[in-house]
Amino acid sequence: MPHVHFDSLKKPDKGDIVLFVFEGKEGGDSFRFINKILDGALDRALKANNFTGKLGEVCALIAPNTCYSQVAVVGLGPQVQFSIPQARRVGGIALEKLQGKVHALKLMADWDFTELAAHIVLGIVLKNYAFDGYKTKKNPSNSQKLTEIYVYASDYEGAEQQWQKLNPLAYGVYQTRDLVNEPANHLTPPLFAERIKELESLGIEVEILNKSQMEHFGFGALLGVAQGSNQEPKTVIMSWKGAPHDPQPPLAFVGKGVTFDSGGISIKPSNGMEDMKMDMAGAATVVGLMVTLAKRKAKTNVIGVVGLVENMLSGDAQRPGDIVKSASGQTIEVLNTDAEGRLVLADILWYTQDRFKPRFMINLATLTGAIVVALGHVYAGLFSNNDELAERLYTIGCKVGEKMWRMPLGEEYDKALDGDFADMKNIGGRDGGSITAAQFLQRFVSTTPWAHIDIAGTAYTDKDNANGPKGATAFGVYVLNEFIETYYEN
Ligand code: BES
Ligand code: MG
Ligand code: ZN
Repeated sequence: MPHVHFDSLKKPDKGDIVLFVFEGKEGGDSFRFINKILDGALDRALKANNFTGKLGEVCALIAPNTCYSQVAVVGLGPQVQFSIPQARRVGGIALEKLQGKVHALKLMADWDFTELAAHIVLGIVLKNYAFDGYKTKKNPSNSQKLTEIYVYASDYEGAEQQWQKLNPLAYGVYQTRDLVNEPANHLTPPLFAERIKELESLGIEVEILNKSQMEHFGFGALLGVAQGSNQEPKTVIMSWKGAPHDPQPPLAFVGKGVTFDSGGISIKPSNGMEDMKMDMAGAATVVGLMVTLAKRKAKTNVIGVVGLVENMLSGDAQRPGDIVKSASGQTIEVLNTDAEGRLVLADILWYTQDRFKPRFMINLATLTGAIVVALGHVYAGLFSNNDELAERLYTIGCKVGEKMWRMPLGEEYDKALDGDFADMKNIGGRDGGSITAAQFLQRFVSTTPWAHIDIAGTAYTDKDNANGPKGATAFGVYVLNEFIETYYEN
């Protein structure tokens, strides 16, 4: 994680400088400042490039004088349209253009730049993320990571305060990405549980349920998924008590943590199966959220529950047609062993609701390929039994740029799950696949306000973009942190 320093608007003596301009507007003080030092070279370069300041447009001068190695001007688009997600994007783009060549970036900021500056910094920090610990030979062209960011701004104290609020989020996102990117041989359920246990140093209470404890609680659905693997399943309960005197029940977040989803006996095609190391992204998002809350000492009480299992094939694996009994007492015919996420969630949703009686329960899961068909990689699917909860998640998602689209629930869909030989089946057919999956989850939620976020399309990206490199995105950490801060703190 780069160090971020803040200082008044002054002349940086050397290095790589980035300036920001809105579309169709004159550059502010910082621009004039540097332009003057460079005898008008910035103005001339922008004219020669027909630079208009469109969002993400970059004009870079290489070694314009003996002090500066690079001066880049980055467009912010029209000022009236500028938003938090755009600030992050612009930061990511700025680094993208320069990455590998710089270890220190000097941002110069003016206008009413205070808040924006911090969001641009966040964009840079998130873009600078890399998961390269397993590469024994570093590629010299991209191994030089950014280590320092300097922000020179007129209201630098304000910008610094804003950054203090966002810095914990950067930690949370890094944590989630690290977990999701970790290959399944290095992140088995027991190893995942150990990684969570380390968070006790942040003041998060961690409780780990082992297999026999889960047997005791009757987690037949979760254990059925785990039985084909040599790895012992774990359920981990995290608790952040930031408001010890608050008499209200806690908020609860629940995550699917399938450390590898081979599909089980209903095995997946081999092409692309490697991506199924990310099938624990829901759990990793809950963990990253807890880290963020602890780092910023959030004044609220939050429970995080993750079900960690590996879905494998073996002589002990669960078979299509097997009938299992969930913690709720309801029985399930497992017609497809690849519809395993809902089996894991069935038990931990029930357990969380029963034990903590939370104010609401939000689960995150890479649950269905069908949500990718419906919404692509832009919006996550949002399902809820509570309009206020859905509304709030939707609103904050738009604000911070982790967008969710509400999908329907209803009896007509639910019927598809009625079982022939047990209370229900674990699949409802191809049509409306992400909705019937959500209906399945709802059968394990009683009257608790509940939302299910299907992040199968948004948790992972197959190529580099302005938000970060190929791999985990940590979608959900930002929106849920902001959602808690907006509605559930004092
Ligand atoms: N983990 C997958 C869903 C998934 C797909 C996540 C693509 C990320 C990217 C889930 O366990 C699964 O296999 N779902 C099946 C359900 C089907 C058998 C009813 C699917 O979507 O095909
Ligand atoms: Mg599956
Ligand atoms: Zn899965």
